[in-house]
Amino acid sequence: MARLLLGVTGGIAAYKAVAFVRLATAAGHAVRVVQTPVSQRFVAPETFRAITGAPVLTDEFEPDPLRGAYPGDPLPTHAAISHLALVERADAYLIAPATANAIAGLAAGRADSLLSSAYLAADGPVLVAPAMNHRMWHHAATRRNVARIVEDGVTLVPPGSGRLASKGEAGDGRLAEPEELLAAVEAALAPRRDLDGVHVLVSAGGTREPIDAVRFVGNRSSGRMGYAVAARAAARGARVTLVAANVGLPDPPGCDVVRVATAEELRRACGAAFGDADVLVMAAAVADFRPVAPAAGKIKKAGRDELTITLEATTDVLSELAGRRRPGQTLVGFAAEHGPEALVHARGKLERKGLDAVVVNDVSLPGIAFDADHNAVTIVTAAGDEPVARAPKADVADAILDHVVRARTA
Ligand code: CTP
Repeated sequence: MARLLLGVTGGIAAYKAVAFVRLATAAGHAVRVVQTPVSQRFVAPETFRAITGAPVLTDEFEPDPLRGAYPGDPLPTHAAISHLALVERADAYLIAPATANAIAGLAAGRADSLLSSAYLAADGPVLVAPAMNHRMWHHAATRRNVARIVEDGVTLVPPGSGRLASKGEAGDGRLAEPEELLAAVEAALAPRRDLDGVHVLVSAGGTREPIDAVRFVGNRSSGRMGYAVAARAAARGARVTLVAANVGLPDPPGCDVVRVATAEELRRACGAAFGDADVLVMAAAVADFRPVAPAAGKIKKAGRDELTITLEATTDVLSELAGRRRPGQTLVGFAAEHGPEALVHARGKLERKGLDAVVVNDVSLPGIAFDADHNAVTIVTAAGDEPVARAPKADVADAILDHVVRARTA
């Protein structure tokens, strides 16, 4: 049983939102509804009120007789100060139907109605189910807006294909069926526990190889991608060992964090945990070379016109671990590649290092990879390539872990 907030915008498919509310309440969920004024031309608030057993809100300044409570909740003794109490209490927020105009508003971050303000204030799962004419759905502006909200973390419940509201018109754009809407909401609510009891070893961050007592050869990895994998794996039930090389982020909850600085330290830490691990996700950027003879003190510049530092190759940790893998272990490597040959190089690494998957970052693309909150990757496996469109790193982490789960059950 969950608290669901349903946002209804002004489209003919609003009648299906009524069927959704019937299904959701029958399934035991407590539902509250917010409507845009235009949507009330299609379905009157009384209809939703009768089925949910709770008043419907439209206006940001309208007092809520239930003071932000959901059906079945005790009535709060004080009226909520914020008109956003409804979304704060919701376990999930579904906007269905979402018109092209509503999606444009969400993409732009407009807060011009209770429905759109609630969208901006939501910190739980948000699902958007578009419904519109097929030409509007395929318009470049709508494509752009939909891509933007997905990038912002929305779970899209894609429209189906078939007969549309306008006479004689058919195509994409029909609101997903009420059963599909409920399944999508329940999937977003259910914590996936598909890594229960699995030991996942993740490396993250970037190693630093000392030149002298104060300087090092390093790289630009922030550790965000590896931390997202560790956090999502723990949330999905895994026991996580996280080997963190120079990461300045808070520890992800539920992970056993081992801190390292150099490639050699990372090699030892991963080597110690690998024997017992079921899954290795090697997201760290490990130095390929290190100074042969780091100076004990600080190298002084006086009397030098130039300084030559000789580097030697480090051990390829991933290849070394792959060499001692036992049956049942799943190995995922990362590859930061630059430019159009990215996938070719990644396929080479998949084979050379004997991996189950290689996650390829094309670091030539703007706004992704290093120190960004979003990433766009391609997951390369022997079975083929799966592009993961630009999304928050937590979502990319889930896509990677979906592959791990599939590889383990294959
Ligand atoms: N890796 C590793 N140990 C190293 C270098 C890399 O374990 N000394 C791992 C990385 O963590 C990553 C994968 O190997 O998961 C691929 O790293 P990358 O540097 O892209 O591959 P290389 O084989 O070093 O190839 P390149 O010449 O492109 O650097």
